[in-house]
Amino acid sequence: MHEAGESENTLKRTLGPLNLIALGIGAIIGAGLFVRTAAAAAQHAGPSVTYGFVIASLGCAFAGLCYAEFASMIPIAGSAYTYSYATMGEFIAWIIGWDLVLEYGVGAATVAIAWAEYFNKFLEIFHVQVPYEWCHSPFNVSTDHLHHGIVNLPALGIVIVLSLLLIRGMQESAVVNGIIVLLKVAIVIVVIVVGWQYMKPENHTPFIPAPTIYTDHMGISYHYGGILGILGAAGVVFFAFIGFDAVSTAAQETKNPSRDMPIGILGSLVICTILYILFSYVLTGIASVEEFRTTGSEASVVYAIEHMSGSMVGGVWVPTFKWLSDLVTIAILAGFSSVILVMLMGQSRVFYSMSKDGLVPRVFADIHPKFKTPYKSNLIFLLLVGSFATFIPGDIVGDMTSIGTLFAFILVCAGVWIMRVKHPELPRGFRVPAVKVVATLGIIVCAAMIFGLGWTNWVRLFGWLIIGFIIYFGYSRHHSRLRNPDKYPYDDREDVHEIPEDIPPLI
Ligand code: ALA
Repeated sequence: MHEAGESENTLKRTLGPLNLIALGIGAIIGAGLFVRTAAAAAQHAGPSVTYGFVIASLGCAFAGLCYAEFASMIPIAGSAYTYSYATMGEFIAWIIGWDLVLEYGVGAATVAIAWAEYFNKFLEIFHVQVPYEWCHSPFNVSTDHLHHGIVNLPALGIVIVLSLLLIRGMQESAVVNGIIVLLKVAIVIVVIVVGWQYMKPENHTPFIPAPTIYTDHMGISYHYGGILGILGAAGVVFFAFIGFDAVSTAAQETKNPSRDMPIGILGSLVICTILYILFSYVLTGIASVEEFRTTGSEASVVYAIEHMSGSMVGGVWVPTFKWLSDLVTIAILAGFSSVILVMLMGQSRVFYSMSKDGLVPRVFADIHPKFKTPYKSNLIFLLLVGSFATFIPGDIVGDMTSIGTLFAFILVCAGVWIMRVKHPELPRGFRVPAVKVVATLGIIVCAAMIFGLGWTNWVRLFGWLIIGFIIYFGYSRHHSRLRNPDKYPYDDREDVHEIPEDIPPLI
């Protein structure tokens, strides 16, 4: 609260509900929609991925309400880590903070891999291609089994460029953010409107495929069809909603946070949900599941646009909407870049706070003398995120991001309820209506999606948490400022109190 009071003087309260909604949409629409939707249809649910979006949006709405209450209790710019540290103590905060590396760091790698797919489409405009080997991880095999990946160089490239921009202290201005938001929403709407006329009823039949096991060309098996398929798809496309929590980080810049925060969070969620449901319906209508499993498995949206209508000229397929697919490719590259930037920034922000609290080494809070950014942290995450983007397939990092964030959401839902019981007296700018019902439903829906993601992802999440516990008990407890006030007094860490320039304000 002391920090909140301090920064009250520096950040101007200029944002209204519309700004917050734009901020949310800017962070939300990305690889989840333009890459993971087709993967969810191919691997889990066929056209019923549309129902997956409905389930994922419900989980986000319940968790989002809890998030808004949490954020309104601690009116400083922050993340689930900051809020849980202040309300539920160090250990839970550590779990959430460690888990957020999956949301932000691994999430950034996922979007970078998706960026690489569309980058190749972009190069196609100029009749150039990055060979399969150099734009896929060593675990990827092409659907025709002719090529093996080695490293994903374009994905690594975009992570390097954006990390360096962050180190320079680049801030996305409100204007740039606004343009990208408009662009993203515009292409979603254009694809829905144009694609609607080219939907083939056979692609939507049956809408919910019969339950079966689908094994892909790399030998990985998935529950396909039926309820399990829909739950799996919901877990996968949950990725498409990640980012609405960026709205809560702007609490200090909002004119009337208690009213505008829930409007910002829920407003951006509602708009995205409507767009996503329509978009996934059209996408699965214009191309078949078989195509999303084979020729259209990469840069799926552009593939679908190019194949929904066209004609053969001299043995070559000439798409009717080439202009649209080129435009979409460029817009997607810009849109993905802004999402990666927000995620990398969020990652350094969380570790900056954790470092301030002594839970991770103070190198994560070292500020560059000239650029005033946490440059060492940015460089360390450049290595980590870059390695994930270069060497791990998009499906795996995407699902790790989903499951990690779902787990954090469950903790947030439980935390808000626990705080109501333990500290009913604390002031709250926003209160979740019927908190017991909302928190319970949030936990159930998020847990159902975790269930749908399957045991390989449970094992990965479990492994991640074990590594986290080892670090916490091996390092963090002994360096925690809360536990060792004599050894690591607040004043001794003067330098880390300065807020780096690339942290707030977001817009
Ligand atoms: N929701 C963001 C995306 O889909 C993370 O890229």
